[in-house]
Formats: sequence, C-alpha cells, structure tokens
Amino acid sequence: MTTAPTSPSSPSTLSPKPIDTAALINNLQWRYAVKKFDASKKIPAATWQALEHATVLSPSSFGLQPWRFVVINDKALREKLKGASWNQSQITDASHLIAFARRTTLGAEDVQCYIDSIAATRGVPVASLDGYKNMMLGFANQPGFDTALWAAKQVYIALGVFLTAAANLGIDACPMEGIDPKQYDEALRPVLGNDYTTLCVATAGYRAADDAIAGMAKVRYPIGDVVKHV
Ligand SMILES: Cc1cc2nc3c(=O)[nH]c(=O)nc-3n(C[C@H](O)[C@H](O)[C@H](O)COP(=O)(O)O)c2cc1C
Repeated sequence: MTTAPTSPSSPSTLSPKPIDTAALINNLQWRYAVKKFDASKKIPAATWQALEHATVLSPSSFGLQPWRFVVINDKALREKLKGASWNQSQITDASHLIAFARRTTLGAEDVQCYIDSIAATRGVPVASLDGYKNMMLGFANQPGFDTALWAAKQVYIALGVFLTAAANLGIDACPMEGIDPKQYDEALRPVLGNDYTTLCVATAGYRAADDAIAGMAKVRYPIGDVVKHV
C-alpha cells in the first residue's frame, strides 16, 4: 500500500460549489445502467481523471481505504474479460472499464500504513496517533470480525461515488456484478497482487442512441414507502 497523500487540501480551505436541487435530481434521473454504449465515443482524459479522483475521495470506515481500482485499457484484455462477464457488450464497447477490488486482509500492517499516511499528510508525530491506531486494531481484532464483508462494504460506497460523480459529469455508466471475479483476479494479478480481490466493475462512456433501456421509465418504489420520518 502507498503512503503518498492523494489530495492534501483540507476541507476548510475550499468552498462548496453546490448544484441546484433540480440539477441533482435531473442528473440522477438521467443516469441509468447503460446496456449499450456507443463504442465510437471516448471520455476526455481530464474528465476520466476527475472520475478517478472522485472515486479515491470516497469515504471509508476509519478512512482505511481497503480498496484498489483498476482501469483496464488493454483492448485484448477487455475482449477476454467480456467472456468472464456474461459476454456483456458494455465490457468492450464502453469508453472505460474499471474494476473495483477489496483488500483481502486487515492486519496490523494495514493500520500502521494508514497511520503513517495520516502522520505524513498532516505533519503530526506517529506516536500522537496511538489512540486512533489502537481503536482500529481493536476493531479489526474483534472476535468474528468479517474482513471480506467489511472491506466489500467500503468498496461499494466507492462504486456509488463513482456512479454519482459520473452522472454529475454527464458521463454514462453501468455498475456490473455479472462477472467472474476469479478470472478478473487472474488477469489483474500483476497490479492487484494477492492482497486484493475483484468484487465488481463499472463501465463508463456514452449511451448508444438505440439503447432501448434509456427510453423506459425508471422503476423505483415511492419515496414515501422507502424513506420514513420519525
Ligand atoms: C452492484 C450492481 C451490480 C449490477 N450488475 C449489473 C450487470 O452485471 N449488468 C447490467 O447490465 N446491469 C447491472 N446492474 C444494473 C442494475 O440492474 C440497475 O442499476 C438496476 O436495474 C436499476 O436500474 P437503473 O440503474 O438503470 O436505475 C448492477 C447494479 C448494481 C448496483
């Protein structure tokens, strides 16, 4: 794991640039899980970089970031992985394919790596973080602690951030669990090693003009049935 800080800005040095409520709902209604991408359209590099950055800015439990995101650019590999993805056309036709992988273990070295990262980013002594470190170690060492489930939950938050960010950038996407994670792990071993395992992927790009799903009404239970106020 790397200890290099990704985004050194502190939240208080920035001001929010809110979009209005109508724009937010519009973008999320506009988003749908694209079945057919326009294979001729590519996401501009700066837009994709922003999507990568947004994904890395996802929150995670304690901030431990038990994930890796692998952008699969290799055309031949994407063709091969289509076969490991129920032959879904998005895998090869979308502009971009990104795999979401979780950490397989959560040990003392992970916690120390994160502590070192905090100390380096914030310029504080490592020892000053002992309390936080011990809290995380206690959490990870709880009897029956399910590392796989815990790490997967964090990765799915990142998937949600990726999808929401894409919608707000006007980028189409499809989250995809219809894959064989073992085949992805084998193919991505050079970058994932043995410490990470694939959970799902997302494809991103631009919807094909004839993707029939785009014209169908979005199916959601009524807000009042799902959101309760007490
Ligand atoms: C974790 C997850 C996995 C999914 N896997 C696939 C998939 O493999 N292929 C696909 O076409 N859609 C997949 N979907 C898309 C869902 O079917 C879709 O989000 C759902 O039907 C709601 O439709 P909407 O996203 O278009 O509003 C997946 C969605 C999620 C959140």
